[in-house]
Parts: sequence; structure tokens; C-alpha cells
Amino acid sequence: MISKISTATIYGIDGIKIDVEVDISFGLPAFNIVGLPETSVKESKERVRAAIKNTGFEFPNDRITINLAPADVRKEGSSFDLPIATGILVSMGIINAEKIKGYLIAGELSLDGRIKGVKGVLPIAMLTKKEGIQNLIVPGENGKEASVVQGVRVHGATHILDIVHFFRGEQELEVFSSESDLLLDRYAKTDGLNFSDIKGQAQAKRALEISASGGHNVLMIGPPGSGKTMLARRIPTILPPPVYEEAIETTKIHSIAGLLNAHRYLIMERPFRAPHHTISDAGLIGGGHIPKPGEVSLSHNGVLFLDEFPEFRRNVLDSLRQPLEDGYVTISRVTHSITFPARFMLIAAMNPCPCGYWGDSRRACSCSATQIRKYRSRVSGPLLDRMDIHIEVPPVAIKDLSVEKEEESSETIRERVINARSIQRERFSGKKIYSNSHMPPRLIKKYCILNEGGKSLIEKAVEKFGLSPRAYHRILKVARTIADLEAKEHIEESHLAEAIQYRSLDKRMTV
Ligand SMILES: Nc1ncnc2c1ncn2[C@@H]1O[C@H](COP(=O)(O)OP(=O)(O)OP(=O)(O)O)[C@@H](O)[C@H]1O
Ligand SMILES: [Mg+2]
Repeated sequence: MISKISTATIYGIDGIKIDVEVDISFGLPAFNIVGLPETSVKESKERVRAAIKNTGFEFPNDRITINLAPADVRKEGSSFDLPIATGILVSMGIINAEKIKGYLIAGELSLDGRIKGVKGVLPIAMLTKKEGIQNLIVPGENGKEASVVQGVRVHGATHILDIVHFFRGEQELEVFSSESDLLLDRYAKTDGLNFSDIKGQAQAKRALEISASGGHNVLMIGPPGSGKTMLARRIPTILPPPVYEEAIETTKIHSIAGLLNAHRYLIMERPFRAPHHTISDAGLIGGGHIPKPGEVSLSHNGVLFLDEFPEFRRNVLDSLRQPLEDGYVTISRVTHSITFPARFMLIAAMNPCPCGYWGDSRRACSCSATQIRKYRSRVSGPLLDRMDIHIEVPPVAIKDLSVEKEEESSETIRERVINARSIQRERFSGKKIYSNSHMPPRLIKKYCILNEGGKSLIEKAVEKFGLSPRAYHRILKVARTIADLEAKEHIEESHLAEAIQYRSLDKRMTV
């Protein structure tokens, strides 16, 4: 008898519906899976056979053919175990074929029949809803993650026997109800850090506030110990909460990467990723035989912090150029290519020279001009061009570190950031754009209108600093954010002047 079970596979960050067709017919005993299965799916056979046997059923000594349709979609992962086993049980007549209609099933089996968690359950749940299927059966440990999607009844199962009993009407499965109240805006990730820990550094703090408000990239340059790493680590405490769509997108990526669990099933904060400078390009951009998201995608809607910027390999840094411009990465393989979202704020920190003291009034720099030039050339011009805000972080004098002056807290700064972001959310509502930094040229033209004074100011700056058309657009976007922080409808000259000043460093840095 032929049976058909609905399940799903992941492509990029989305689920694709797959039908598992099972045929058991008389003939020489065989067990075949057809329909473009990857090795991980082929291995299913052994787990399914053992799980069914060890649960007390007699595994059919016939010719079993499993077809995964559509055949042209590549299938990967261990989540086909459970639908295949269920299909066999239906074909064996142990489960009634009528009962499984209206269910989508995904999960991995262990040899004794227990159901183990799988990756990508959130996109699978979203697909279930899209396909109009009312019920979803997933491993118990993934139940919470799936329940984020409203409008689908999520059942969690822990053993294949639970499934048999459930479809026979002998037992209920645990139902995970969705939490409609996601409390996104009350949530801030602090880890006990606060901007008030940092003495002085008013200019750097201001730059990071602008960056958090509009999602702009920042390059911090300063001598050792001036507080660059300290500043960057505190950015999550002032980031605005993600909107629902952003949280879901971020969670989907983490779901595919297998980084979620029963306690952390929805990413409610913006990610902050700080990979070490020894990272490979595949680690940063994504890669592998079956492409997995890299750091740029794991920091989607959040922050990618690259400390000791010039220490990263040049080809690794240059691979950032495309996602920084487009907001996504495409990984090509011989047979297919996969696109992952990668819209992040890049925060980079570096010393001005190899010894670190170039331009420092306290200590002489011991580097030669050639050494300095070589060091800086590790960060390419096109990459520098994509950094919206360049700031110098000079050291704070030791005597100022001990003064008892109360510094502004992260909570106060975050309040202003949230206000500026809500103006942007309104401005771009319905456009799938959430901050000024994502404005395409068409919207820059619409929302970054300059008066005569502004126009002549930016023209002079372009000439004086030799700015590229890209830098020009980025300045306009930063100026828009500065105006939003003051809740001003129009960009004024002071806003523009501040934005320009953040681009002047590349000229001054040349030796
Ligand atoms: N403005 C400041 N307020 C309070 N503490 C500070 C400040 N600046 C530096 N410090 C102290 O100096 C330490 C070093 O700072 P941090 O590690 O951020 O420096 P850095 O700029 O990243 O240096 P490097 O270039 O060597 O990586 C901090 O852990 C902190 O103890
Ligand atoms: Mg540091």
C-alpha cells in the first residue's frame, strides 16, 4: 500500500514542502530512498529500521521504496526519519491513512525509537502555516521553537510509540501554544555592562549612539587601552529592540544553524557577534558542502564586531564587501546556490599603526612610514569606503578615570535611540526597511533633501576629502539619523556637518 506523509526540508532560510511517499510491495527484501537525498537522508534507513524494530513492531520483509517528492529539490538533514517511519507504519496498516491527513511531520529518530531534536523547526513551522496545514508534529524539544508561529497547532512527541498511540486515538501529544505577547520592546540585553562604566569618550559615545539609531557602520581607531573594545561590548545595551519581523528572521537563521534550544527558542534581542581574527572566509560569510550561515548572517539585524580589524586576513575582510552593500550573501555550489540574509552593523576597531601610538601625545610612535602604510593597507579602500562613521578614540587621562562624575547610563541613551528608530519605522512602514542605513538611492532622494547651504557644504566636502559617490550617499544617511535623533523633519546644516566630520579621518590618516 502506498502512503503519503507531508514533511519539509530547508533551502536557504526557508522551508520547502516535501511529500514522503512510501510503497511496500512483495518482492525481494529491499529498502530504497529515491528523490535526490543527501548522504544524511540516506542514513535514515538504518535509524528507521532499528527504531521500528526496537519499538516492538516487525519490520516488513518486503520491498520498501521511499520517494521524496518533488525530486528536483535536494534533501538534507535527519528530520526525514520520523515522516519516513510514520509512512512505513501507515503502509503496514498500523496507523490509519485517513488520520495523518492535515499533519506535517519532522524529526530525527534514535535507534531505540526516541525522537531527537532537529535544526530549522521555525522555518518548517512557518511553511506549515503557509501551506494551510493545520497540525505540525515536531520533536518535543523543538516544540517551543515551532510554537512561535501562530495559527498552527504544534504537537511535540518524544517517542515513535507516542505517534502510533496518538493516531490510534489512545493518547494525546503535548500541545505547545503560541505566546502571542512577545514582549519585544521591554527586553534589553545587558550582561551587567553599561555605558556609564566608561569615563569621558563623549565623541565615541555619540558616534555609537548615532550608529545604533540608524544602523550605521563604525570604525574606531585608537591607541592600546583607550577603551575601543570596552565601548563596542556595550553597544548591545543601547540597541533598539527588533521589530517582530526582524526577530523572526534572526531566529530563523539561528534555527537553521542549530543554535536554538528549549530555553532559547526565540531570539528577542539583536545579535552581537565578535568572531576572532583567525576566522576563515567560510566562517565569516558562510560555507560548507551544504552551505551553512556564517557570522555575517548570524549577526543579521544586529552587530558584527571585528576587533583588531587589520589582523583579519585580507581576503576574509574583502569578502565582507558584497554583504555590506547588498544585505545578503549568495553562496554558490556546482549544482545550486543559496542566499542568506546578512544585514548587520559592522563595528570595527583598530590601532592607528603597528606599535599603536601613532598620533598619541603621551608616547612616541616607533613605526616607520612604510610600516604604517603597510599596516593600514591591510584594510582595503573599498572596505573603508563602506564605513559610515570613522572615529578616533584617544586615551582618557588617568586622572579623569578616577573622577566621581556620573556618566550617562545605557538606559538613557537607549531611550533616545528607540525614539529615533520609531521615526524611521514610521517613515519606512510597509517597505521592509527598518533603518536609515538601508535606504536605497531612490529613498535617499526622497528623505534626505538638503537646503542650499547643505548642498554647498557637501559639495565642498566631496572635493576636499575626495569622497566617492558611495561616501556621499552614506553621509546623507548618517545626517538623516542625526536629524531623527533631534526629531527634526529636515536635515539641517549642523546635522550634515557632523556627518561629514565622521568621514574626514581617512584623509587625515594618510601618512
Ligand atoms: N574611558 C574609560 N573609562 C574607564 N575605563 C577605561 C576607559 N578607557 C580604558 N579603560 C580601561 O582600560 C581597559 C582597556 O580598554 P580596552 O580593552 O577597551 O582598550 P582597547 O582600546 O580595546 O585597546 P587595544 O587597542 O589594546 O585592544 C579597560 O578594560 C578599562 O579597564
Ligand atoms: Mg581592544
